Amino acid sequence: MSLGEGNTPLVRSQNIGDSLGCKNLYFKLEGCNPTGSFKDRGMVVAVAKALEAGKKRIICASTGNTSAAAAAYGARYKLETIVLVPAGEIALGKLAQAMAYGARILAVNGSFDEALSAVRSAVDLMEIELVNSVNPFRIEGQKTGAFEIVDELKQAPDILCIPVGNAGNITAYWKGFTEYQEMGMAETTPRMMGFQATGAAPIVRGAPVVKPETIATAIRIGNPASWEKAELALDQSKGLIGMVDDNEIIDAYMRLSREEGIFCEPASSACVAGLIKMPESGIDLSDKTVVCILTGNGLKDPGTAESQALVELEYVEPDIDSVMDLLSSGR
Ligand code: F0G
Repeated sequence: MSLGEGNTPLVRSQNIGDSLGCKNLYFKLEGCNPTGSFKDRGMVVAVAKALEAGKKRIICASTGNTSAAAAAYGARYKLETIVLVPAGEIALGKLAQAMAYGARILAVNGSFDEALSAVRSAVDLMEIELVNSVNPFRIEGQKTGAFEIVDELKQAPDILCIPVGNAGNITAYWKGFTEYQEMGMAETTPRMMGFQATGAAPIVRGAPVVKPETIATAIRIGNPASWEKAELALDQSKGLIGMVDDNEIIDAYMRLSREEGIFCEPASSACVAGLIKMPESGIDLSDKTVVCILTGNGLKDPGTAESQALVELEYVEPDIDSVMDLLSSGR
């Protein structure tokens, strides 16, 4: 079973790394997965296991990307797919995907956390497979991202920067890095540096957030399901969990687009926003190899691009004189 997930590009920073005085900075472009986010890595395994168990239906709660991935693999392998999303709060591209792949979409009058709690109750009452990241097979798939990084760098990075929402992915990467070390494939493991949005930072604050709020809708989560596992990864790796506000998220989003040519979604740029703040908080990057996990494609969220990356259209008549006049008048 496959849609070609994984083996995503690990690209070296062209400009941001130098500006931070970072020795080696890489971006892992998870937006290059088949449905445009890292979720495909885990979803293909979860769906394979659902089929193996004879399940006919799958269900998840989602801020958008999980629902797109579930809908795609569900369609391909003839499973009925039901997704619960917070009404009016998921990015347009993700909703479009779930619709196109033909999922049944339940728009919940509430938060992601409430939707997930409903889904967890529903699976007790129905013959249906839960494909959120509390499904251990999701984690097994997603840990392959860590394997790929070590394979390519020939060693583990010093620091891994990763956005944190429901905390499945940080759990998966840590599992991948530690397993690779146990297998003798890497001598070390990285420090795990997780980043939440200031308005949705339960792990940083040490308490659930009832009404999480951030422009990065993918990580608008107030009570992460894998909270304890994330804490364990942070402790064991001597890492840290930080928060970044919406301005910092958008600043990093714009810098990735305009200085690196990488268009990711705001949730993804949250980890770069966190990295950008490291030198000022005393973390020396001059001898560090850092990898940032850019979890989703910028095309997922055209609304944010339109509202934040303001470039005015310059209307022109379709003749060469008008075009030349406009270009010679400067910007
Ligand atoms: N980045 C993106 C683009 C995401 O879609 C998510 C999570 C995360 C980061 C955080 O990963 O939850 O494993 O800590 N999206 C989920 C969803 C919640 O429903 O698509 P996490």
